[in-house]
Amino acid sequence: MNPTYHIGIMSGTSLDGVDVALVDLSPLPPSLLHTFYLPYDKDLRRQLLDLHQPGNDELHRAAMLGNTLAHRYAKAVIELLKENKVEPQNVVAIGCHGQTVRHCPQSGMGYSIQLGNAALLAELTGITVVADFRSRDIAAGGQGAPLVSGFHQLLFQDPKIHRVIVNIGGISNITSLAPNLEVVGFDCGPGNLLMDSWCLRHIGTTYDGNGVWAESGKVIPVLLEKFMSLRFFSLPPPKSAGREVFNSAWLESYLSGHEKPEDVQATLLQLTITTITNSILADFSDAAEIYLCGGGARNKALTSKLQASLPGKKVKLTDVLGANADWLEAFAFAWLAKQTILGVPGNLPPVTNAKGERILGAIYQA
Ligand SMILES: Nc1ncnc2c1ncn2[C@@H]1O[C@H](COP(=O)(O)OP(=O)(O)O)[C@@H](O)[C@H]1O
Ligand SMILES: [Mg+2]
Repeated sequence: MNPTYHIGIMSGTSLDGVDVALVDLSPLPPSLLHTFYLPYDKDLRRQLLDLHQPGNDELHRAAMLGNTLAHRYAKAVIELLKENKVEPQNVVAIGCHGQTVRHCPQSGMGYSIQLGNAALLAELTGITVVADFRSRDIAAGGQGAPLVSGFHQLLFQDPKIHRVIVNIGGISNITSLAPNLEVVGFDCGPGNLLMDSWCLRHIGTTYDGNGVWAESGKVIPVLLEKFMSLRFFSLPPPKSAGREVFNSAWLESYLSGHEKPEDVQATLLQLTITTITNSILADFSDAAEIYLCGGGARNKALTSKLQASLPGKKVKLTDVLGANADWLEAFAFAWLAKQTILGVPGNLPPVTNAKGERILGAIYQA
């Protein structure tokens, strides 16, 4: 029997954990069959965060963390398959994004580094692994990001309605699907990552559930204005960003130290909303429908304020289109792996700014 399924593994800039999706890509639309989430522990998150900056013996630390991640990814895959009585032989390939520790696509010498030893993952699972999706697009002059836009197009393009998909992960990114026009996509700015780190520092939880803490504070308009003065926000697309730009040091460089922590949180929530809203209104003001996905789409304060800032537009979760907002990125990397195995390009040059379509990733055979 020929293998039928694909697996996508996503571990994003939020550093919250590993999303694994078992999918069937043969029907149209493709279907999400089973999922598994493995959260990161505090220690692993700390070690990954440390690797975002230059530091002692970082090559060794990166290699060792790559091995640790491969073991975590394999554990999640094996659990998922066991729970659902699926044999590894029934899986064509795993698309593994890896854990980004550096994203520097700019200039002719750009690079983006995702950790997660793909060879070890293939060895531990007995399944072919596709990894390192971003490098080829960057080598072709692109940003290497966002890579999910092609999958958004496959799932959500409507022949008559201009739709925008907003993925609110650690960083937020956007895909515009206008009928009869090229797909456009780019990173808008911080999604959850600044809110998460501020929250951890002040109330000790990894995120601000439903934005309740943010809502107990007040937006500080001058602080928001300072945040918004960052050149990244006014740059035209294509553009992408990571923790190189949006990190605790960047946040603290704007603080006097006298702000109430909950007011800073309210301002960070507003920053996420303002950057997404501005991106939509500046470039896709005629879009009628906005669909949200990623963990930030579960933040009720965020979604209701976003709806309020986009009057006249329908703002919903991708769930209403039949695609669970929590698993869309893992789903997309399963699809990207299939593209690679079939020898079909996975990038969209108008989105990443690559010189052309490219077959992405490296294949580690089972
Ligand atoms: N109920 C919720 N309220 C607020 N934030 C949430 C909620 N659920 C998830 N999140 C946010 O979503 C993040 C995870 O989103 P995810 O899409 O996995 O991002 P990434 O792709 O960067 O890992 C969490 O770190 C948290 O900030
Ligand atoms: Mg995540």
